[in-house]
This record gives sequence, C-alpha cells and structure tokens, in this order.
Amino acid sequence: MAKQEQWTSKLGFILAAAGSAIGLGAIWKLPYVAGTSGGGAFFLIFLLFTILIGAPLLLAELTIGRSTQKEAISAYRALAPSSYWHNIGRIGVATSFLLLSFYSVVGGWIVIYFFRSITGSLTGLSHEEYGNLFGSIIANPYIAIFAHLVFMFITVFVVQGGIQKGIERSSKYMMPALFILFIILVIRSLTLDGALEGVLFFLQPDFSELSSETILFAMGQSFFALSLGVSIMVTYSSYLSKNESLPRSVVSIVGLSIFISLLAGLAIFPAVFAFGFEPAEGPGLIFVVLPAVFSQMAFGSLFLTLFLALLLFATLTSAFSLLEIIVASLTKNDPSKRSKMAWRSGILIFLLGIPSALSFGVLSEFTIFDRAFFDLADYLVSNILLPLGALLIAIFVGWRVPRNVLLEEVTQASSIGRRTFAVWLLLIRYLAPVAIIIVFLNVVGII
Ligand code: TRP
Repeated sequence: MAKQEQWTSKLGFILAAAGSAIGLGAIWKLPYVAGTSGGGAFFLIFLLFTILIGAPLLLAELTIGRSTQKEAISAYRALAPSSYWHNIGRIGVATSFLLLSFYSVVGGWIVIYFFRSITGSLTGLSHEEYGNLFGSIIANPYIAIFAHLVFMFITVFVVQGGIQKGIERSSKYMMPALFILFIILVIRSLTLDGALEGVLFFLQPDFSELSSETILFAMGQSFFALSLGVSIMVTYSSYLSKNESLPRSVVSIVGLSIFISLLAGLAIFPAVFAFGFEPAEGPGLIFVVLPAVFSQMAFGSLFLTLFLALLLFATLTSAFSLLEIIVASLTKNDPSKRSKMAWRSGILIFLLGIPSALSFGVLSEFTIFDRAFFDLADYLVSNILLPLGALLIAIFVGWRVPRNVLLEEVTQASSIGRRTFAVWLLLIRYLAPVAIIIVFLNVVGII
C-alpha cells in the first residue's frame, strides 16, 4: 500500500480536527438544548463530561489513528485482527450518515439566513417579527428542501474534489474571525438591559431542574461538540506525524470547543432575557435571537452578514468531516472512486434528510415515539449512537489495545509522564464506560 499521505504541519491537523469539532454543536445545539434543559445545571454537567470523558476519549481516538496510520475501519482491523472490533468503524460510518442528514437541514437554514441578510430582509424587524420569521421560513417545504439541497451540494462538491486541504488552510483566517465576531456579540449582549438574568440562567446551576434526560443530553452534547464516537478523529490522526504531541492537540481542540460554547451561551442568553424571548424556543433559538442582537448594533446588518458567512463556513468544515469519513470508508483510499462515491452518498444523505427538513412544516404532526423526524434523528444520533460509539471505543482502547502501544503514542513528543498516562488510562478503562452505561440505564429507568 502507498505510504499514507501526511499533514504537512501540525497546524494542518489541528485545523482539520478543530474545523470538524467547531460547528453547529457548540453554536446552535448547545444554546438550544441548554435552553430547553434548564440552563446552568446542563452547562455544568456538559463541562464535566467534556473534560473528564470527552477529552480522554479524544486522546483515545487519536492514539488509534496514529499508531496504525490507517483510516478508521482498517485501523481497528490492524490493532485487533480477526475480531469484530472493526464494526466500531462501521457504526461510525452509519452514524455519520444519519448525522449529516439533519446537520445539513440546519446548514440549509444558515444558507437561507445568509441570503436574506444580503438582501436586507433580516434587518429592522421587531423582536416578535424575528420569532415569526424563522417559523414561517422553515415551515415552507420548498424552501427547506432547497436549502438542504444547496448545503449538501456544496459539501459533496468540496469533498469529491479532495480540496478540503485548501478549505482547512483558509480556516486559519475564518475561525479567528468567527471568534472575534462572537466576542463583539457577547459584549453587545452582556450590555443589554436585563442581561444579568440570562447570564445567571446559563451559568448558575439549578439542580432542582435536573433530570436523567438532562444528563443524557449533556453527555450527548459533549460527544457531538468534539466530533467523538464516529472515529473521525481516528482517520484524521492517521495522517499525523510521529513528532507531534497528541495530548497537546487534545488540549487545543477541547479548549477551543469549550471556549466557543461559552461564547455562544453568553451571546444568546442575556439577549433572550433582555428581549423577552423564550429560552426554550427550540432549534430556532439562535436564528431568532442573534439577528435581534445584531439589529441593536452599529453596522448591525453588515456584521450579521459577515457572521452568517463565517458560521456557514464553520458548519461546512464539520459537514466535510462527516462526508469524508463515509467516502474514506467506501473507497478505502482508492482515489479513482472518490468522486462517484461522494456524489452517491451525498444523494442518499440528501434524501434521508428530506423528512427532517419537513419536520417543521408539513410533517410536524407526523411523529414516531412522540418525536418529529428531525428530533428523532437528532435524538438517535446524539443520545444513543454517539455514546454507544464512545463506549465501544473506550472499551477497545482501555482493554484491548496493548498498553505499550498506548504508552508510546501518548508520551511521544510530549511532556506527559507515566503518572498522567496512568490517570488517563483509568479514565478510559473505568470512568468513561461506567459513566456512559449508568447514564443509559438511568434514562431507561433501571437505576
Ligand atoms: N462537531 C461538529 C459540530 O459540533 C459536528 C460533527 C462533525 C460531528 N463531525 C462529527 C459530531 C462527528 C459527531 C461526530 O458541529
């Protein structure tokens, strides 16, 4: 087999991995789920999961990829020949499929808002009108499907050409720009009259609101926001040179992800309370609140357009990673099939996403287990499939991969000592699997 292509620099890997991680998870999903799950307690538990389980798991995925230098499914095969473990990679591919189908629907909403902001039809509305606008746009089946199609088209177009590298390089400028705009937004939001109530809602834990579902959502959110559980990080780190420190990469990626989640919450919730919106607005939360905040700013409509462009970029880089893992597993790195497989998978994902796109309009009454299709897909992915993938990866790395392989990968080029390594191994062997299983059992009411 040809020698694996490598990232030209550590930055290339960090940009791709952070590009995958940072996206709708931190910016759209976190505020909306925090809002429907009572706020502060959710955020605190999300942080705990991210630091104690998400970060160690990220390191686990990275060790699998770099030690084998193979894409996900082959990596499991290499570490555990003639066993069933490579099915973790398969589950990851199937999960990515379903995930991308509704991710693209939300990506489509951003496309719509972006074009609306250019034509000026997003400015100068009253707060109530912002609320109604979102509902009326996404209820229109033609618009929702068309936007989903546009988003999927861009994703396939970039991935089939193998031109992500160029995109990742531009993220060196786009991501910092997104962070800066977010900071400006947070400042505006925090200085609104009545902002404090929103800060308290988001950051002050109220455990009386806590339910087993909230804990499940917080766990799912921590995996979603770090792109864990589908072996994407396995594939990405397989291109990483042995001279790089894996723990340091983990700190950068997790740090950035927590930071943007915090910024998103602090941009949204103060404004929610100041303007009298509902924190439990649901998936439309950022689409209703953010245009209203921008409208209170000098050059607001210009900033809004810029913000939506950057958000679209961040969303696309995450979508590329999802399609990439599907295409990589279908082509096993045979470049001649790349384009065909990307278009085929893209079409299937588009079709699978149509019921999700219609869930806020014509199909809103059509529910399975009490959930509209969009909710069901999201629930299945975030709260069942990602934690399941994470559980299996923790067991695989903790109990199956030889300890010396792990020790070498984790300590390579890093200042991590044996003691830190031992703590990490404990978290992966015991804490992660036990915590995930307890959360599951708790939700189904067994404990
Ligand atoms: N992490 C991305 C986000 O927050 C979404 C994402 C991309 C993802 N790839 C993933 C989530 C793999 C889970 C698994 O927007």
